[in-house]
Amino acid sequence: MTEIYDFGKTCKGEKTCLFQITNMQGAFATVTNYGCTLVSLFVPDKNDALTDVCLGYETLQEYEKSDGYLGMLVGRCANRIAKGKFSLNGKNYTLAVNNGVNHLHGGINGFSSKVFGFEVKGNTIKFTAVSDDGEKGYPGKITLTACYSFTDENELILKYNAVSSEDTIINITNHTYFDLNGQGSGHAMEQKAMIFSRGITEIDENLIPTGKIISPEKNSPFDFSNLKPLCRDLNADNPQLKIAGGYDHNFVLNGDYDSSYGIFGLRKAAYLVGDDTSIAMEVYTTQPGMQMYTANFLTDRKGVIRKRYTKNAGVALETQNFPDAINHKEFPSPVLKQGEIYSHTTIYKFLTV
Ligand code: GLA
Repeated sequence: MTEIYDFGKTCKGEKTCLFQITNMQGAFATVTNYGCTLVSLFVPDKNDALTDVCLGYETLQEYEKSDGYLGMLVGRCANRIAKGKFSLNGKNYTLAVNNGVNHLHGGINGFSSKVFGFEVKGNTIKFTAVSDDGEKGYPGKITLTACYSFTDENELILKYNAVSSEDTIINITNHTYFDLNGQGSGHAMEQKAMIFSRGITEIDENLIPTGKIISPEKNSPFDFSNLKPLCRDLNADNPQLKIAGGYDHNFVLNGDYDSSYGIFGLRKAAYLVGDDTSIAMEVYTTQPGMQMYTANFLTDRKGVIRKRYTKNAGVALETQNFPDAINHKEFPSPVLKQGEIYSHTTIYKFLTV
């Protein structure tokens, strides 16, 4: 069942809504069409108490004025594009830069701050938005649909589709910060994680991939082949961790393909457990990479229900193509050709262990 509430008007006067999708178990997700943002996600803990496992704000104004992309859909290209420059079909393009000298997450006012059109059907909301030809410097007019479902099995299913009027590049993700101990618990880094990957794309001092893939040694900071608390190696003496002030790296996924959802190319990406609540989350995606970001740059701010968030208040598991892929021939291509369809599915499934 999906209920629709008023979420106020943006500073430009656009009306927004807050949707609550409640499943048969009483668990629910709330989402706004401002940036297709996941505002809260209440799932049962080991005692069956509903616990909000994602960081969010109470008002639209906080979403509009805050950085950090809490819960938002980001794009046209998630993560960084070096110096905002790339070439496609022999033409050079320069994108808006908003992260030092680099382009990040589609630039200021990318999809994360658009008000999406919507259509509700049962436990699914289909959001639609357009990014015009030339917006932020990208070629082609993109029409993006994002279908968000919350199932009776406590699965949050995010399905993205996009088409472009011209050849372009695209990389859509969701930027939710998870704290399975309950949002604002103050010990999100004690969550345990496991990642199905063969390594990370190495970054330089500007957090741009060098092109090299580092395969971690057993038990080293980037080895998540066994479940371990995020805090175990967070401050380890490791050059890659030092650059980012924690984890802010793209993991090259190699998990087993999973046919249970009938979605082509869907594989297991990660597994996260809240040590306090015993809430666990399985992540599945059709994308080749996943940025694990331990909120290293998150500054102190007010969250929901008297909670405060600060550095390391959650972990984002951003399923995506590799950062700066357009400038690395050896990475999977982010090109969306005119007439083709971009499609990406990510599933976050919740259970208790
Ligand atoms: C991504 C990036 C981080 C940071 C956040 C937003 O996860 O990799 O470096 O920019 O988004 O704050």
